[in-house]
Amino acid sequence: MNKKISIIGAGNVGATTAELIARDGFADVVLFDVHEGIAKGKALDITEACPLWNSPVSVMGTASFADTTGSDIIIITAGFPRKPGMSRDDLLHANADVIREVTEGVIRYSPDSIIIIVTNPMDIMAYTALQVSRFDHRRIIGMGGVLDSARFRTFVALELGVSPQDIEALVLGGHGDQMVPMPRFTTVKGIAITQLLDVHAINRIIESTRNGGAEIVGLLKTGSAFYAPAAATVQMVKAILFDEKRLLPCSAYLMGEYGISGIFVGVPVILGRNGVEKIISLELTEEEKTMFEGSVAAVRKMIDILKPT
Ligand code: NAI
Ligand code: 2OP
Repeated sequence: MNKKISIIGAGNVGATTAELIARDGFADVVLFDVHEGIAKGKALDITEACPLWNSPVSVMGTASFADTTGSDIIIITAGFPRKPGMSRDDLLHANADVIREVTEGVIRYSPDSIIIIVTNPMDIMAYTALQVSRFDHRRIIGMGGVLDSARFRTFVALELGVSPQDIEALVLGGHGDQMVPMPRFTTVKGIAITQLLDVHAINRIIESTRNGGAEIVGLLKTGSAFYAPAAATVQMVKAILFDEKRLLPCSAYLMGEYGISGIFVGVPVILGRNGVEKIISLELTEEEKTMFEGSVAAVRKMIDILKPT
C-alpha cells in the first residue's frame, strides 16, 4: 500500500507540494481545502499529469476531512495571506484559528501522523498545533530553515559563480525578519565562506536571505513564494517517509537546548521516521547567541500576543 500524505490548503504552496510529490510518485496525496472546487480541480489536473510523468500514485481533492484518514504525514499550508488593512496580529489570530480547526481534524482522523507546519507565522503555528494536539512534540515540525538555507545557498552561489550543489548553508532562529544566517557553518565543498568572501559580501548575502520572502512578495504583488517553499517541504517529507536521518534546519520544540524551553524555533535536527529524532546543539559565538536570542524573543512575543489575557 502506498504511503498517504494529506496537504491541508490547496493554495500555491499546497498545490505545488502535491505536484512535486505526485511527479516523484512516492506517495498518494489528498489535497484538502475549504474551497472544494479548488481542491478537486487542482487534484484532477495533477492526476491527469501523472500518466505523462509515469507516476502510479493517486491524487484526490476534497473538502471533507474524513478523506485524510490514516495519513502518514499531514502538511498544513492552510491560512490567510495578509490583506490590506490587516495587521500582523490580525493575521496571527486568523491563522491560529485555522490551525486549531485543522489540528482537531488531524487528531480525529490521523492521530499517528507527523505534522509539518508551513502556515505563517510558522514557528507560532507549530506551537499552536502542539498545544491543541498534545502530540509528542517530535511529531510536529515547522518548515522554514530548509527554505531560508536554500535561499542562502542561492545567493552564495550567485556571488561566487559556483554551483549551488556544492554549497551547504545553515540558517537558524525563527522564520521571520530576525532569522539567523550562519556564515561560520556555510561552506563551499567544505571551505567556509568566510575564507572566500569578504565581510561586506557576506553581510549583503545575509540581508538578501533575510529579505528573500519579502522580495518575492514585492515582485508577485498578489501572494508569496511557493516553488522553493514546496521543494523545501518535500525534502522534509522524504527525510521522514524514507527514514533518511537528514540533518536539516527545522523549527523544533525546544526543551532546554540552546538554553531555550517551551517554543518552536529553527535549529539543526536529524529528521527521520519518528520526526525530530535529535536536536543538534551548536556552540554559538557571543554574536551568534545575541542574534539567536533576538529571534527567539520575536517568536515569544507573538506567542504572548496569542495567549488569552
Ligand atoms: P494561498 O492563499 O495560495 O493558499 C492558502 C489556502 O488555504 C487557500 O486555498 C485557502 O482556501 C486555504 N484555507 C484557508 N482556510 C482553510 C481551512 N480552515 N482549511 C483548509 N484550507 C483553508 O497561500 P500560500 O501561498 O499557499 O501560502 C500558505 C501559507 O504558507 C501562508 O500562511 C504563507 O505565509 C505560508 N508560507 C510559509 C512558508 C514557510 O517557509 N514557512 C513559505 C511560503 C508560504
Ligand atoms: C517566505 O519566506 C512567505 O514565509 C514565506 O517566502
